[in-house]
Amino acid sequence: MADELRAPRGMHDLLPEDAALWAHIRDTAEAVAHRFGYRPIATPIVEDAKVFLRTAGDESDIIQKEVYLFEDRGNDRLALRPEGTAGVCRAYLEHGMGSWPQPVRLYYFGPFFRYDRPQAGRYRQLWQFGAEAIGSDSPALDAELIDLQATLYREVGLSDIALRINSIGTAATRHLYMEALRAHFAPHVTTLSRDSQRRYETNILRVLDSKEDAGHPAVQGAPSILDFLDDADRGHFEAVKAHLDSLGIAYEVDSRIVRGLDYYSRTVWEFEPRDAEGSQGAVGGGGRYDGLIELLGGVHTPAVGFGVGVDRIALNLKARALMPPAATVDVVTIPLGEAGAAAAVRAASLLRAAGLSVLAGIPGRSMKAAMRGADASGAAVAVIIGDREAAEGVATVKPLRGNAEQRTVALDGLADVVRGVIG
Ligand code: HAM
Repeated sequence: MADELRAPRGMHDLLPEDAALWAHIRDTAEAVAHRFGYRPIATPIVEDAKVFLRTAGDESDIIQKEVYLFEDRGNDRLALRPEGTAGVCRAYLEHGMGSWPQPVRLYYFGPFFRYDRPQAGRYRQLWQFGAEAIGSDSPALDAELIDLQATLYREVGLSDIALRINSIGTAATRHLYMEALRAHFAPHVTTLSRDSQRRYETNILRVLDSKEDAGHPAVQGAPSILDFLDDADRGHFEAVKAHLDSLGIAYEVDSRIVRGLDYYSRTVWEFEPRDAEGSQGAVGGGGRYDGLIELLGGVHTPAVGFGVGVDRIALNLKARALMPPAATVDVVTIPLGEAGAAAAVRAASLLRAAGLSVLAGIPGRSMKAAMRGADASGAAVAVIIGDREAAEGVATVKPLRGNAEQRTVALDGLADVVRGVIG
């Protein structure tokens, strides 16, 4: 039907099975972040548009085409957050976190919005788990975030994820490098894709991470930014790599990684499944952003962080049949007859007060239909209460797994007996 209401294009509902998978990823990620000494932060889903317009880069795809911008009823210009870092930095400044012990280590989980072309693994509402460490330029911190992120993938159940790292130096380095790139690409411009031709004019770095031109000889043979790093940046990158080596974290240096957001400096990285199919791509990325706090009006404050794509982790776990076991209830009640129905409601309440999860059977169904429902629920025990049981203040406890016999017990001892059956 033409006027059937559906979720917006590129956005999807998390039905119970997916919501459980999301919770598994979130809980695992939070436990790992806690182990590294990170603390939670939650920023608003909408921000003053300037928070993103000032930080993501005018020529980043995010600002060019992907940000959801709107005016609210008071004519304030707001944006749905396309990513988490800028909002966390805005909060760092707003709450004077610069006076806290540095670095400030924070993590977050939530939905983000990008008006992207939807396809497998690319959505307009996406979920990220992210971590940021603000207030230190130590290369040990870059390694710490990579370690945290790698641990997260491992513990969530994803193995065989490849890590690629690069250093893009400071703004001065990138300026020199971009001049060299311009000279290198000049004779080839007309043979590049239309997108790359635009990027050649506006942000030539991003020609390097054009998917369309990845195989183009001029892209393949482009000069490497690593040859342009100054001594301090080179030393920083060497130190990051030495830390990764001593942590036993495998990586590949890939000088074509420049990342999609302009706020990065020095270390940048991406994690991608080795058997990545189609366009699902990176399951996370991050890097240093030593200049971002200044872009928001603060004093120079070096920082580093990452964002992990929860939707893409979920897709990978599903493709590998690594779903967490479904949560089930402990008990199903089966009310039979009118007095039984009233007694079953009380019995369910008693069992819940004792900490058991109880699915209340709906009165008026046949014993056969009720038993079918009980089996499908995955519960370990059915508690059957008919009019006779109600009159005597008892219930029949029927184990649904194994071959223990059913028995009739007084309501006040019901929870203990059910617990005994569940074991
Ligand atoms: P990002 O690379 O834009 O970085 O996004 C991080 C991850 O989010 C990606 O690797 C991908 O897994 C997932 N992702 C991005 N866009 C989509 C989409 N449209 N659909 C599904 N998944 C998506 C950032 O956002 C930075 N804030 C990361 C960061 C934190 N850098 C420093 N601190």
